[in-house]
Amino acid sequence: MKLLVTGGCGFIGSTFVHLALGRGASVVNLDKLTYAGNPANVADVADHPGYRFVHADIADAEAVREAIRGVDVVLNFAAESHVDRSILDPADFIRTDVVGTAVLLAAAREAGVGRFLQVSTDEVYGSIAEGAFRESDPIEPSSPYSASKAGGDLQVLAWHTTFGMDGVITRGSNTYGPHQYPEKLIPLFITNALDGEALPVYGDGLQIRDWLHVEDHCEGIWAVMEKGEAGQVYNVGGGHEETNIEITKRILALTGADTSLVRHVTDRPGHDRRYALDTTKVRALGWEPRHSFDDGLAATVEWYRERRDWWEPIKSGEYRAYYEAQYGAR
Ligand code: NAD
Ligand code: DAU
Repeated sequence: MKLLVTGGCGFIGSTFVHLALGRGASVVNLDKLTYAGNPANVADVADHPGYRFVHADIADAEAVREAIRGVDVVLNFAAESHVDRSILDPADFIRTDVVGTAVLLAAAREAGVGRFLQVSTDEVYGSIAEGAFRESDPIEPSSPYSASKAGGDLQVLAWHTTFGMDGVITRGSNTYGPHQYPEKLIPLFITNALDGEALPVYGDGLQIRDWLHVEDHCEGIWAVMEKGEAGQVYNVGGGHEETNIEITKRILALTGADTSLVRHVTDRPGHDRRYALDTTKVRALGWEPRHSFDDGLAATVEWYRERRDWWEPIKSGEYRAYYEAQYGAR
């Protein structure tokens, strides 16, 4: 089986590339190498006979047409993925998450690709005070990021309805683990704590997220790729809900950092209070998460403790400018 994985140098995409090669698939990894794309994440498979890297933008129709030739399944991980950056400047989010998805869909249709899997997010549903979102619930995205992702989802569903394309969508919950760019809550707080820097908790810190280990997320995507029904959406959630302030306390304890590092700062505009997913549908495909949050978080802290060589070069240059723009005035 030949897969086109877009965004395979990012956090979840690179984990999926390893999973797919380990299962005997061949992989074309098409990645633009934005600030979040890191060739180091796939350096160990660069010479694998089943692996090929294409440095390109998913919104570049010519490059995509070339890369998609002979591919059985497209898995679209490529995205601008950080909510806070979408609030600072939404333009790249529209270009990649909306236009890029449309370009990929058109190329997949033209090439007669067997299946198109869109990697989406629980954020498209918006916030839920009680209970859990089901796939049939309406989408009400709050941020420019989640609105862009919703635009991608709607196109995949429309391509299925209008052109009969075999499209499936996964909506994953908040994902954590090794190789996550240190702008997201968990890797940002771990690396700041290890460096004795402040941990900027937005607002009261009582927002709730549903945490999913990156390997479990990729297993869920694999299950939907293999067994999902065309035209369907599948929630992939870890089922572990926790407030941000509880996560912060865990990270302080695991790193041995001092509680005085915690700073409550101005809240994120449009901040969703709680996410929760009903995962009955994906579980019917035989998937369930294997990692407990206790073990997964402890192992993730250890990974960042051991891999300063991975994250220290990231936390300089463009990152410092972003950090100042994001947190300087808070
Ligand atoms: P990431 O930011 O770590 O990586 C994104 C990757 O996409 C990078 O390698 C980047 O270079 C590449 N990319 C960006 N724009 C591109 C373009 N125009 N053309 C080609 N490549 C491009 O993201 P992630 O956290 O690994 O997320 C992967 C996917 O999973 C995204 O679609 C995201 O919306 C979705 N998702 C993420 C989470 C999460 O918690 N991280 C949860 C649910 C869903
Ligand atoms: O739910 C899935 C989504 O999870 C993915 O689609 C996104 O790609 C991914 O970025 C993530 O979005 P969140 O906005 O939930 O993740 P983030 O790590 O940015 O924030 C998690 C929570 O922590 C959120 O309530 C905001 C809060 N937070 C975040 C940062 C970066 C803070 O309190 N302080 C911070 O500095």
